[in-house]
Amino acid sequence: MQLDKAIKSRKSVRKFKNKKPSWKDIIECIDAARFAPMAGNNFTLKFILIDDPKKIQKIADASQQNFIAEAKYIVVVCSDKKRLTNAYGELGEKFNKQQVGAAIENFLLKIEEKGLATCWIGYFEEEIIKRELKIPEDIEVEAFFPVGFEKEKSYTRRAKIDLNNILYFNEYKNKKMKKPHKVD
Ligand SMILES: Cc1cc2nc3c(=O)[nH]c(=O)nc-3n(C[C@H](O)[C@H](O)[C@H](O)COP(=O)(O)O)c2cc1C
Repeated sequence: MQLDKAIKSRKSVRKFKNKKPSWKDIIECIDAARFAPMAGNNFTLKFILIDDPKKIQKIADASQQNFIAEAKYIVVVCSDKKRLTNAYGELGEKFNKQQVGAAIENFLLKIEEKGLATCWIGYFEEEIIKRELKIPEDIEVEAFFPVGFEKEKSYTRRAKIDLNNILYFNEYKNKKMKKPHKVD
């Protein structure tokens, strides 16, 4: 799949078929995350691939979003920011969030390329998930991703903001590429 197609066709999917994806395909998607840029090349993420239906149900409950329980797999993304905060202090926190996002986007684009479907889940009770998955206290659960095959192919992605609304030139709020020349 072409990169442009993967970027533009990726969308959040909240209805999954009963069919189970190949876990090897999901691991390939996790592998893509390794190639994201990392501050000082400190890779701060860990991934937990879950296929235990009881755990999947508990994770769905912890996020109060029932569709998650339909998935055959969940990928939980954790981060350990200590190496970054040791090296960069407070800035390390910011770097960690940024690189988690970069790694997740690689994962999402690979999911798209593989014909799989997922939805970024950021709303959940972190403590419940940590307890269920034996995640240590100092490790953060960043997000998780129920993975399956899309049930309703007809569903289209939500509208995206216009480029015009997000792009400035040379200074904040300047929407013109060049200042108009004065005509004498
Ligand atoms: C940080 C973050 C947290 C999110 N949390 C949830 C969530 O808890 N549940 C959910 O259904 N979607 C969640 N989403 C998905 C967004 O709702 C979705 O990306 C957005 O509506 C745009 O749709 P699209 O992904 O199809 O382009 C989250 C997305 C991000 C980036």
